Amino acid sequence: MDKLRVGIIFGGMSSEREVSLNSGRNVYDNMDRERFEPVPVFMEPGGRLWVLPWQLISQNTTTDIVERLETEAEPVAYEALKTRIDFAFIALHGKYGDDGCIQGLLELQRIPYTGPGILASAIGMDKDIQQKILRAEGLGVPRSTVVEQRHWQQDPDAVRQRLVGEFGLPLVTKPVREGSSIGVTVVRAPGDLDAAMAAALQWDRTVLVEEFLEGTEFSCIVLEDEGEPRPLSLTEIHPQSEFFTYDDKYMPGRCRKFTPPKTIPKDVAETIKVDVVRAYKALGFRCYGRIDGFVLKDGRVLITDPNSSSGMAPSSFFFEQAAEQGMLPGMIVSTLIEIGMRIHGEKKGPL
Ligand SMILES: Nc1ncnc2c1ncn2[C@@H]1O[C@H](COP(=O)(O)OP(=O)(O)O)[C@@H](O)[C@H]1O
Ligand SMILES: [Mg+2]
Repeated sequence: MDKLRVGIIFGGMSSEREVSLNSGRNVYDNMDRERFEPVPVFMEPGGRLWVLPWQLISQNTTTDIVERLETEAEPVAYEALKTRIDFAFIALHGKYGDDGCIQGLLELQRIPYTGPGILASAIGMDKDIQQKILRAEGLGVPRSTVVEQRHWQQDPDAVRQRLVGEFGLPLVTKPVREGSSIGVTVVRAPGDLDAAMAAALQWDRTVLVEEFLEGTEFSCIVLEDEGEPRPLSLTEIHPQSEFFTYDDKYMPGRCRKFTPPKTIPKDVAETIKVDVVRAYKALGFRCYGRIDGFVLKDGRVLITDPNSSSGMAPSSFFFEQAAEQGMLPGMIVSTLIEIGMRIHGEKKGPL
């Protein structure tokens, strides 16, 4: 029988395209060649798709790849994608990648893919909507509010007063839709709010403002097993910076991560595992997800960042937690393809 041609889609249009290159490369390296034929599909910053010769995957930056596309890669029109791949392993992150856009394109082409469908992907990207859903579900989330760009520009003094009055200091500002800690600031003095709002507004027109949480941060991958979501393992995060920044996430050796958790007590870990599955279901995630949050000093568990996709680099939460369960990266890659095929085989209309 012919092998399933699995297009690994990576790169992309978002600020996280370099992270995606690392994910895509690692998925490519770990795909089981006995069962699957991996096809590297690079999305350039402008959105066009290219099938890459495998040698180009080892380039250091997406810019290095872009410069060689015209001479060494093969452009693929959206509508021709299904002639090249039977399944899409989405290794894109951020806007246009795990927010429903590429999922919509794949649905139109009738190509099954990893991760959830359009709606859950879009929800997974929108921190304001997520919190509203989780709050309604009775799950713990931070106190928060949103500030629209035009309100901030019209009367920054009034907004500043309202925010400091409501949350005190420090408080946290972040773009409603972004990832990898990009545009996130811990605001410690009223005078720092201007720069923080500008940093967030660079990425979205609405800023989410939250109370500052003091406690221990955690991350938990959820994986579907015969349609039933199950927590993989739990990781406790000890950032080196004042919070879990981009550099802490991706620079080698920057951050300590403990799987299983080092200081989170066993009973709290069990509560977290129950809550992350509830969050996964409430948000409509499918295939897999990564739910992040905090254990506060008073023992409360808050969900802060549910993700409908997750980084797939060698030291990512995904592979660290999989290893704890005795699963090699290649086993996870195969499992995600199997789950995706099954979910898409059962769907009625778009996922
Ligand atoms: N309310 C908060 N209190 C304290 N730290 C926070 C808060 N919100 C976010 N952070 C820190 O900022 C990091 C990035 O924020 P997060 O909401 O997870 O966005 P992203 O989608 O970019 O990962 C978190 O991992 C955490 O370390
Ligand atoms: Mg996060």
